[in-house]
Amino acid sequence: MSQKLENIQACVFDAYGTLFDVNAAAAHCADELGDNWQILAEIWRGKQLSYTWLRTLMDEYVDFEAVTADALDYAMASLGIEDDGLRARLLALYLELDAYPEAAGVLGELQAKGLKTAILSNGNPRMLEAATNHAGLANKLDAVISVDAIRIYKPSSAVYQMAVDQLSCPAQSICFMSSNAWDVAGAANFGFQVLWVNRFGQPAEQLPGKPAGEITDLSGLLSWI
Ligand code: LAC
Repeated sequence: MSQKLENIQACVFDAYGTLFDVNAAAAHCADELGDNWQILAEIWRGKQLSYTWLRTLMDEYVDFEAVTADALDYAMASLGIEDDGLRARLLALYLELDAYPEAAGVLGELQAKGLKTAILSNGNPRMLEAATNHAGLANKLDAVISVDAIRIYKPSSAVYQMAVDQLSCPAQSICFMSSNAWDVAGAANFGFQVLWVNRFGQPAEQLPGKPAGEITDLSGLLSWI
């Protein structure tokens, strides 16, 4: 059952997996990949995230576009796929991922309620600009905040602090949404009021930081605000 979140001034969204479907690039290449498209998408995403954490620990930042390409190379190699054309197509599609169908409508409703809306993402500005323009979300967002400015990835507290600073809003007045349970933990541990967009019915992470609630897609947010 949903309660109301109190004193919310801004709604901040994770990008990949939350507003944009990270599996869409591989899905659009199902003609070439056949049944492998899902396993490729899974390995690609898994490696992409673990490389962000490992590079942050190693103090070896490269931007999310480079991490995404490295992770794709690993995923293709693990499936024995050598195809430069397919690689280029998958990376181009990653810049134009499909937004989840409810995303634009929910952002519009939040703006109509007078709330600030923003993305806070590992994505670098070029990727986020391409994705938001392609999905028609650019004019529904007051800010698009990228970790690239501080060269550290989520779930560092320094990343969540960027939203506080750029939106001039205290952490407890920010409602943060992510479908990534580890990002939910990081954001809640930092001090945001967090709703977990649990699209795939996953179990909760055993980490510090608990969400205020769980929704199955972004439209569920409107009953909490
Ligand atoms: C992002 C990744 C974590 O957009 O999905 O930050």
